Amino acid sequence: MTFKTILSLLFLLPHIAFGAKADAKDIMLGAVFPMTGPIATYGQESVNGMKLALKRINLKGIRGKKVQLIVEDNKGEPVESANAVRKLISVDDVYAILGSVASSNTLAGAPIAQSAKVPMLTPASTNEEVTKMGKYLSRTCFTDAFQGEVMAKFAYNSLNKKHAAIIVDLSSDYSKGLARIFKKRFKAMGGTIIPQDFSYNQKDTDFRTLLRKVKRKKPDIIFLPGYYQEVGLILKQARQIGMVMPFIGGDGWHSDSLLKLAGKKGIKNNYYSSHFSPDDTDPAVQNFVKEYVAAYGSKPGAMAALGYDGLMVMADALKRATSLNREALQKAIASTQNFKGVTGMITLDKMRNARKGAVVLETTEQGNIFKEKISP
Ligand code: PHE
Repeated sequence: MTFKTILSLLFLLPHIAFGAKADAKDIMLGAVFPMTGPIATYGQESVNGMKLALKRINLKGIRGKKVQLIVEDNKGEPVESANAVRKLISVDDVYAILGSVASSNTLAGAPIAQSAKVPMLTPASTNEEVTKMGKYLSRTCFTDAFQGEVMAKFAYNSLNKKHAAIIVDLSSDYSKGLARIFKKRFKAMGGTIIPQDFSYNQKDTDFRTLLRKVKRKKPDIIFLPGYYQEVGLILKQARQIGMVMPFIGGDGWHSDSLLKLAGKKGIKNNYYSSHFSPDDTDPAVQNFVKEYVAAYGSKPGAMAALGYDGLMVMADALKRATSLNREALQKAIASTQNFKGVTGMITLDKMRNARKGAVVLETTEQGNIFKEKISP
């Protein structure tokens, strides 16, 4: 038995392969997603979306081959993400990696993919630094520079709020980066930001002391660039202590679990920016929604749509690559232009970031209400 086979056996348990039956002649792709842990709905939804894409891709195959996707669970943790990227490269010898979702997770795996020259395409990580890790890193979503500006404008112009507090998740590069951008943009428009730093860490559950401090400063709006688990609890506890102002945030809020966590009182009167709304009337979107509902029994959220588009872009690049190797694949990904996805038209710029529109959603007990669509 070779060392590689032993390693493969060791890794047999946590990994799940989707697509064609294992065959050395298949095109092997890796995927690093949070299937368990505090941001698990992101991973589960992404994989649902990617499975639909894979089905479509393997109807015809690519270059006479089937595509196979090996999914690794990073549990939403940076160290696990780095290990997963290392394993997919050294054990599975994948052509490319899709992932991850949380920017801190993608940032942890990025240097490994970059130094091994394995293309890594994130469908969802919005932090500015991600694609600066090197040319093997690209993304099919917008960045936080855009998302932060969208929400600053929405707060100032659409909601007519002028005095904001910001609550940051210190364990998340996404949260810290998005907070910085919102602050800059909101101030530039003439708004004021309460100078005090309000923060928490992922997996915290009691936010009452923090929220009382924020309440005393009397903001008319609160920017909360976090992930749904903590955001949901913060919304719930804020209403419990009588905070009635709107809370706003970014794509990290996008999860079916948000309502369960925030409760009926907590969910009301809040807004966030995201990548996708299943209420978009575009026929391509409606087709995707129909297919998704038929397969999983619920409407797709942002992560499902992003996962789907990410894998479809990867498949398109695999077809266009001048030959089937990682270097040619990287070039093909970077030159993606006018790819019509369900999250919008995807064109990668010089820094391998997609310029795409955002949607603003209002959270209600009955589900999200689509408020605005903002072009880049
Ligand atoms: N943009 C978030 C990040 O970079 C991840 C995310 C994307 C979460 C889409 C939900 C939906 O950390």
